[in-house]
Amino acid sequence: MHRILLVLIAGGLMAQTPPARIKIDIDRTIGEVDPLLFGNFAEHLGRMIYGGIYEEGSPLSDKDGYRTDVMDAVKKLGVSILRYPGGNFSSGYNWTDGIGPKDQRPVRVELAWNALESNRFGTDEFLRYAERIGAEPYICINGGLGTVDDARHWVEYTNESRHTYWADQRRKNGRDEPYKVKYWGLGNEIDGPWQLGHKNAEDYAKFALEAAKAMRLVDDSIKLVASGSSNYGADWIGWNRTVLNALRNEIDYIALHTYINNRDNDLEKFLGWSQRIDYYIETTAGAIQATQSGPNPRPIYIAYDEWNVWYRAGNNEHLEETYNFEDALAMGMFFNSFFRHADVVKMANLAQLVNVIAPIMTNKQGLFLQPIYFPILEYGKQRGNVALNAWVASPKYTLNRRELPYLDVSTTYNSKDHAVYVNVLNRSKSQDIATRIENQEGILTPDVAVWQMNYPDLKATHTFGDDKKVVPKTSTLTASLSKNSLVYTFPAHSLTILRLRLE
Ligand code: AHR
Repeated sequence: MHRILLVLIAGGLMAQTPPARIKIDIDRTIGEVDPLLFGNFAEHLGRMIYGGIYEEGSPLSDKDGYRTDVMDAVKKLGVSILRYPGGNFSSGYNWTDGIGPKDQRPVRVELAWNALESNRFGTDEFLRYAERIGAEPYICINGGLGTVDDARHWVEYTNESRHTYWADQRRKNGRDEPYKVKYWGLGNEIDGPWQLGHKNAEDYAKFALEAAKAMRLVDDSIKLVASGSSNYGADWIGWNRTVLNALRNEIDYIALHTYINNRDNDLEKFLGWSQRIDYYIETTAGAIQATQSGPNPRPIYIAYDEWNVWYRAGNNEHLEETYNFEDALAMGMFFNSFFRHADVVKMANLAQLVNVIAPIMTNKQGLFLQPIYFPILEYGKQRGNVALNAWVASPKYTLNRRELPYLDVSTTYNSKDHAVYVNVLNRSKSQDIATRIENQEGILTPDVAVWQMNYPDLKATHTFGDDKKVVPKTSTLTASLSKNSLVYTFPAHSLTILRLRLE
């Protein structure tokens, strides 16, 4: 095929030999960017539910108690799947406390977060919320102190269409049609000693296997997520191996959780967490493969169903983390890693959604958007694209005795509008990096849309009335093209999404 070389002068710099190169090839596909990668998590914790998405009696809430300003921001974010009710909360939760007339629901001591739980928000309130925002609901059963019966009855309450005891309870509570909840988690972080009902891998696997069987007998269309590794100080690989081995004929996903921090106040180290995220994914993918040696194995994927930056606000601050510009850059790092592993990472849930380690913060008068909100929204526009296996050569630095490219990259392709997305995190604190982007298949057109987050102060944050600072800038470039490649300079400490078009 005839190929011409396009040169686009962009980003204000045209280097003779740019120090970095990115080769894109729409034939080198990894897998679909699953829409479920753009999920969130809503736990009964601090002001996530009460005062977050739900505030009875507030002038900002509708007749059902949902905060409408929050709902608008949540809808705009494009949440595809919402995990509920925890988290650590789920391991001590009795779901039957949260159904029926609100004034008759019991107030309980909540042990995971040392709080009082009014139970005024429960299964029906959650499932109606998920419907209102257009997200798949994803319920995590109590795999800590709960029982197999609790789990199967919960599925019956939400999904059964015949007249059974639990389906009729649902009808009594105002909902005739089954909710048809498809995604169910078989417990949360059961590998962690902090978890109520923590178990060793063998005991957990026995419980989860029986729960899975019983839940599927109620509804065989459900998808199940096993509690995978969250406790990386322990034998996390052994945990996954045992769980996968025991559950390989029952589960559809295994969960991973990762929270990152910048305690050393070192940007390049912080944005090098991708080393570990890639490693967790690839090691777990290997463990999945190792259990699939038999004929006709059940496909199993990774659900990264808790991920975020979390290190400043602890339990006493109810996890109300204030996010800054460098945390927004870290969002790109996580998504780049998920996209690069799009064949195996098929679900991800940012922990969480509102107030608790969250992109949206509220008070009684309104809300503001944290800097991390914007990259989440923008990466979400690539859902359904196919992830491409880009070749990257970039200046490097050394972290944990390994070389790491300053440019952290993922690429995706939308065949409907012939758009190629080049997602580039420049994690260098000081170097702008001129990069030749070379297209291998098809002809580039001159239209380039640029979305970029960059800010001089890495620690800049937002607050009420001041949330327009650390926001993306967008522009379009029409290049004078002469060759099938372009040069773009990625500024130091920036996150850029270039949307290129093929003829
Ligand atoms: O998201 C906050 C907590 O972090 C969750 O409850 C738990 O699963 C994790 O340890």
